[in-house]
Amino acid sequence: MKMTVPKIKAQKGKKPITMLTAYSYTVAKVLDEAGIEVLLVGDSLGMVFQGKENTLEVSLEEIIYHCQCVHRGRKRAHLVGDLPFMSYQVSVEEALRNAGRLLKEGAVDGVKLEGGEEMAETVFKLTERGIPVMGHVGLQPQRVKMMGGYKIQGKGGKAARQVLKDASAIAQAGAYSLVLEGIPASLAKEITQSIDIPTVGIGSGPDCDGQVLVIDDLLGLNTDFIPKFVKTYANLAEVIKKAVGTYCEEVEKRKFPAKEHSF
Ligand code: KIV
Repeated sequence: MKMTVPKIKAQKGKKPITMLTAYSYTVAKVLDEAGIEVLLVGDSLGMVFQGKENTLEVSLEEIIYHCQCVHRGRKRAHLVGDLPFMSYQVSVEEALRNAGRLLKEGAVDGVKLEGGEEMAETVFKLTERGIPVMGHVGLQPQRVKMMGGYKIQGKGGKAARQVLKDASAIAQAGAYSLVLEGIPASLAKEITQSIDIPTVGIGSGPDCDGQVLVIDDLLGLNTDFIPKFVKTYANLAEVIKKAVGTYCEEVEKRKFPAKEHSF
C-alpha cells in the first residue's frame, strides 16, 4: 500500500516514520523493497552525488531528473523532492511554479523546503493549491554561508524560542511534516510535543516522530566526513574496494572471465 500524505500524518505519536535519501533508480528500488516509508531526493545530492562543497549549486532540473530515477524504482514509498536554493525564496509565484514542476515532471508526492516564519506564507499558498509541503527548520544547509558552516542551531533560550516559532509557523501554514535538523534533542522533543504534524529528525535526538539519514552515510559509502549524529550500518566502501580489488586481480591473471562466463 502506497504511503500517502494522510498516512504519514496519521503516524504521529503512533509509529516512527522511516526516511532516507535516494538519488538513483537502483538504490530507490532496494530501499523500497527494504520497507523504507519515505524517500527524499534531497539537495544533499550536490555534495553526496556530485561531490560539490555544498548544496547551493543544485538546480531544479537536477532534482527533477533524480526524482524521475527514484520514482521508477519505488512502488510503495512516499517520494519527496527538495526545492533547491533560490527555486522558492524569490517569490511565492516562483515557488508555486517550481514546486508544480516537481509534482508534474518529478512525480513526487510532496516537496520539501527550508525555512521558518519567513516561509510560512509560501507554505500556505503551496498547500492551498494542492502541493503537499514538508518543512525543514533548525540547521538549514542552504544557509551555510550565513551560518559560516554547519552548526547546531537553537542552542540557548532566544535561539531555541526562534526554532520553536519557526516550527509552529510552518505547521500552522499547512505543512504535513517537518524535518528538524541539527538542534538539541530537548528542543526537538518540545517541538514534537507542541505541533500536530510529524517531525522527522536528523541530528536532533530520539524523540522526533521519525528519522532521516543520507543513504551514503548509513551505508558507509561516504569516506569524506562522518557527522557525529550518523550511525554507519554497513561499510560498503570497504566491501566495494575488496570486490574491485579481486576483480582487478582476476582480470590481470586472466582468471576472469572463466568458462562459465563465456559463450
Ligand atoms: O538534502 C537532504 O538530503 C536533506 C536531508 C538530510 C534532511 O535535507
